Amino acid sequence: MPAIALLGAQWGDEGKGKATDLLGDRVDYVVKFNGGNNAGHTVVVGDQTYALHLLPSGVITPGVVPVIGNGVVVDLGVLFSEIDATTARGIDCSRLVVSANAHVITPYHVQMDKVGERFLGNRKIGTTGRGIGPAYADKMSRLGVRVQDLFDEKILRQKVEGALDIKNQLLVKGYNRKAISIDDVVAELLSYVERLHPLVADTTLLLDRALNDGKVVLLEAGQATMLDVDHGTYPFVTSSNATAGGACTGSGIPPTRIDRVVAVVKAYTTRVGEGPMPTELHDADGERLRSVGAEYGVTTGRPRRCGWYDAVIARYAARVNGVTDFVLTKLDVLTGLERIPVCVAYDVDGVRHDEMPMTQTEFHHARPVYETLPGWDEDISAARSLEDLPKPARSYVEALEAMSGAPISVVGVGPDRDETVAIRELV
Ligand code: IMP
Repeated sequence: MPAIALLGAQWGDEGKGKATDLLGDRVDYVVKFNGGNNAGHTVVVGDQTYALHLLPSGVITPGVVPVIGNGVVVDLGVLFSEIDATTARGIDCSRLVVSANAHVITPYHVQMDKVGERFLGNRKIGTTGRGIGPAYADKMSRLGVRVQDLFDEKILRQKVEGALDIKNQLLVKGYNRKAISIDDVVAELLSYVERLHPLVADTTLLLDRALNDGKVVLLEAGQATMLDVDHGTYPFVTSSNATAGGACTGSGIPPTRIDRVVAVVKAYTTRVGEGPMPTELHDADGERLRSVGAEYGVTTGRPRRCGWYDAVIARYAARVNGVTDFVLTKLDVLTGLERIPVCVAYDVDGVRHDEMPMTQTEFHHARPVYETLPGWDEDISAARSLEDLPKPARSYVEALEAMSGAPISVVGVGPDRDETVAIRELV
């Protein structure tokens, strides 16, 4: 059976957790392939809401094997507290598998993230402060600590010494902070070994065998297209590849085995952290989207920046990911609006751009060109097919599909897993 990549088309928080959960019954493995505990998935099942950061959201579905792939950076303290908290709520986490090649976020990465942001002042990225960027920087500088290194104390100490050598000089001489103790870091990492060891596997081999056995593997992105380190609004991005290419490198599954790329896109736009966002609203409409859509970060609690749907971004996401299906979420949040503007192009210093501008400077200057569509008043949460939607809601979905570069296969009309309009099967 093929693998399916599931990712976000905008700046994250599109509702990927719900989409994964929807696929749950038909999926055998759910692989997190990038990012770390900077992510936040909210999964609502019945009257229970689960906010997951590091655990793949497939952990909620009985029978699914959740996998933390080699492309992830893992804070082991966070991993075990999330396992404990989720287990305490009756969810079985014992099937979790962690790649031996995943990198470990250590206390010094968290400290470097926080200190670094403080020193950037008004040039700050607005990171989640979880050590993500410094852990990936060490990975690329070949100074990282991998999960497998914890099983060889001598190697572990060498790696931590290597990583801390320059960082301690920077902390003391550059940032005026205390040096970090190698012994403390090594001791903390070793304290996880007993619990960690049984979870660790060669996940690329495991997934290859699963695909050969006809299993369905879902590759679930953290963050989203516009936060991708290569294709997003650099430098206001995360430090990993959240696009379809990252699904391959972060899991070891080759592109030839992925035949469906599902992108989740919200019926409007949100963003947390700094960086450009052409359709951002600073008025009552933005406030309304935030309060009706409960747009507050799962990880940091920060209010999300809100704005209208941006079809330029959706088309861009369709292009760089090879999207085969969009899952349009939170359509119900727009209920009650008389008219709904949709950004169809940008005006960049007087020139119309139908596609994403080439440079970041142009993107900063982009002003949305809006088309306004009629709204609807009826409660749409009971709709289960396109025909059940009031005519303007259906027209809104059809207009978005026509401008976004790929078919919309599912529409979310409420937070619960049942509150969904199914147009085409995803598996
Ligand atoms: P970092 O990933 O903590 O380094 O943060 C880099 C940028 O990505 C910041 O603007 C964060 O707010 C944003 N970010 C990271 N993870 C998420 C997510 O799961 N949803 C939305 N934004 C995120």
